[in-house]
Amino acid sequence: MDSTRARKSLSDLVALKVVGTPISALTCYDYPSACLQDEAGLDIIFVGDSAATNVLGHAHQNDLTVEELRVLVQAVNRGIEQAYLLVDLPYCACQATAVMRSAASQFTADGANGLKFEGFQPDAVHALSSDGLEVWTHLGYLPQYHAQPGRVANDPESAETLFKQALELEAAGAAGLILELVPSELARKVAEATRFPVIGIGAGTGTDGQVQVWHDLVGLSEKEFRHAARLAETRTVQARAVHVYLKKVAHREIPGS
Ligand code: KIV
Repeated sequence: MDSTRARKSLSDLVALKVVGTPISALTCYDYPSACLQDEAGLDIIFVGDSAATNVLGHAHQNDLTVEELRVLVQAVNRGIEQAYLLVDLPYCACQATAVMRSAASQFTADGANGLKFEGFQPDAVHALSSDGLEVWTHLGYLPQYHAQPGRVANDPESAETLFKQALELEAAGAAGLILELVPSELARKVAEATRFPVIGIGAGTGTDGQVQVWHDLVGLSEKEFRHAARLAETRTVQARAVHVYLKKVAHREIPGS
């Protein structure tokens, strides 16, 4: 690691918002992907709780433990020189403020620059930001709490509620906001009315930045989501390599000349 290079700070991300430069973010769960994303110049590398299903084989992200996520955060942290490292608080750590505080301090010790949790919880935002932590929130579709993925805040009343919640979370001390699967006009309005970075996923192009799930982006997921930008087919490439390897072993061609 080049110790002369500093990681991006929250102020750097806010400065990008101020000048209108889109902020880039991707989920990441391992060291080699962290190195690759960091070298590419990504602004935010995000260890999301989607690690549970994407890399640990759990049936649901709410099955993830703090201990499991810590190992991944430590690996990703070792691969980052310049990006801001954002980490999700798993569902099991979000049931009481004292537990949130404890998990957040463990992830901070592992290298997290910011911590994120889902839902409208201004008191928890206030408590953790009073501890000196950079607390990111997450509104819209909430994978930890909503049974079925789908667009939310479609009608004027729920759009207005979400808008007010975003302002209240900022007033409570939130450092940033992830907006998932909400109408693009609403996402743009939230981004324009706030000073903190608003990062969208399936929320149109008017947010301050975009986040995507790594496994969707590089085509490692079996499922395809409408809001996901699938820019490569890595699963197919890897499956092909295994088939070629099987044939080569069978034909005594490994090791090659
Ligand atoms: O864990 C996750 O993948 C997320 C998405 C919103 C990026 O929270």
